[in-house]
Amino acid sequence: MVTIDIQLNEYSYPIHIGHGLLSTIDTLIDVSRQIVIITDDFIPKIYLNTIQSKLNSPLVFEVPNGENSKSMEIVYSIINEMLESNITRKCLVIALGGGVIGDLAGFISSIYMRGVDFIQIPTTLLSQIDSSVGGKVGINSDTMKNSIGSFYQPKMVIIDIDTLQTLSKRQFNNGIAEMIKYGMIADKSLFSALLNNGVSEETLDLYIQKCINIKKSYVQNDVYDQGKRQILNYGHTIGHAIEQDSKYSILHGESIAIGMVQMSKGRPFYNQLISLLTKYSLPIEYKKELTKLIKYIKTDKKVLNNILNLIVVEELGKGFIKPININDIRKYL
Ligand SMILES: NC(=O)c1ccc[n+]([C@@H]2O[C@H](COP(=O)([O-])OP(=O)(O)OC[C@H]3O[C@@H](n4cnc5c(N)ncnc54)[C@H](O)[C@@H]3O)[C@@H](O)[C@H]2O)c1
Repeated sequence: MVTIDIQLNEYSYPIHIGHGLLSTIDTLIDVSRQIVIITDDFIPKIYLNTIQSKLNSPLVFEVPNGENSKSMEIVYSIINEMLESNITRKCLVIALGGGVIGDLAGFISSIYMRGVDFIQIPTTLLSQIDSSVGGKVGINSDTMKNSIGSFYQPKMVIIDIDTLQTLSKRQFNNGIAEMIKYGMIADKSLFSALLNNGVSEETLDLYIQKCINIKKSYVQNDVYDQGKRQILNYGHTIGHAIEQDSKYSILHGESIAIGMVQMSKGRPFYNQLISLLTKYSLPIEYKKELTKLIKYIKTDKKVLNNILNLIVVEELGKGFIKPININDIRKYL
């Protein structure tokens, strides 16, 4: 097991990364606490069963899998049931699943009785290298993705790489899109390794650690996303709009992939990016008129006084923030 510590003073926490960690959960957390597990109905039951067998009758919620579970209705129904079950503010909430579960469970933990402890057990590649780290939690409103939320750090993240074995190829590649993003904004060697050698069983562990270390440095320096942490949003302005316009039929990583392609047009690495995305069966274009996306981009919560902080990569491995007038986004569509 490798441990990476996120250092945020009293909000610091360890990220344990390894194989077979689910069955050691009783050595990592205090199992005598009241425990609530939030998971979804598609994740293979073996993971829930493994954890449950080590815990003392936890209260379990299985929400429908998919983005629609990041909703106020689900938040409200889980909170009501936690109250009816006499779950106190000393409880521990475990998010067992992908980014949807992490965002949802984290948000519930941030508001239940003004905040209770939670840990993340991410089970998708995307959630292991990205969403479980950094404390952004939240749900969607009817009109905007992630518009209701908070910054709320977990007490621990447990990454059991073995859980990726049951992930579909599409979901695995969806996570690879975020891995490519890390390469583009911060680590040229990761980009080249993915392009030239791909991911093997041996390198997967190392690449997961590399991505977490990149995210760690941005989060530690800018926890509330006011400055350089925004560089992690490379490809996301257009990506989020595609996700919403496609009603989430195009997955988060897939949408980011198209967003990165749009941002790379005319750059020297454009062809390499196309080859890399194609290698992982990731989409490189949105099959609809891109100007349709402007309405989503204009209402993006990151737009202030018509200024959008666009993330640009001119040289592989170096992302930077370029504030633009919102209307200039047309150049990238
Ligand atoms: N908070 C953040 O910083 C942050 C960052 C990036 C993305 N996100 C959010 O994360 C979400 C996307 O996360 P995701 O891609 O993990 O999606 P997801 O949570 O919907 O999981 C994808 C699918 O994989 C299934 N699954 C999960 N683990 C599995 C496993 N081990 N084996 C087989 N199937 C499994 C799930 O049931 C689901 O159907 C989006 O809502 C996005 O907004 C948040």
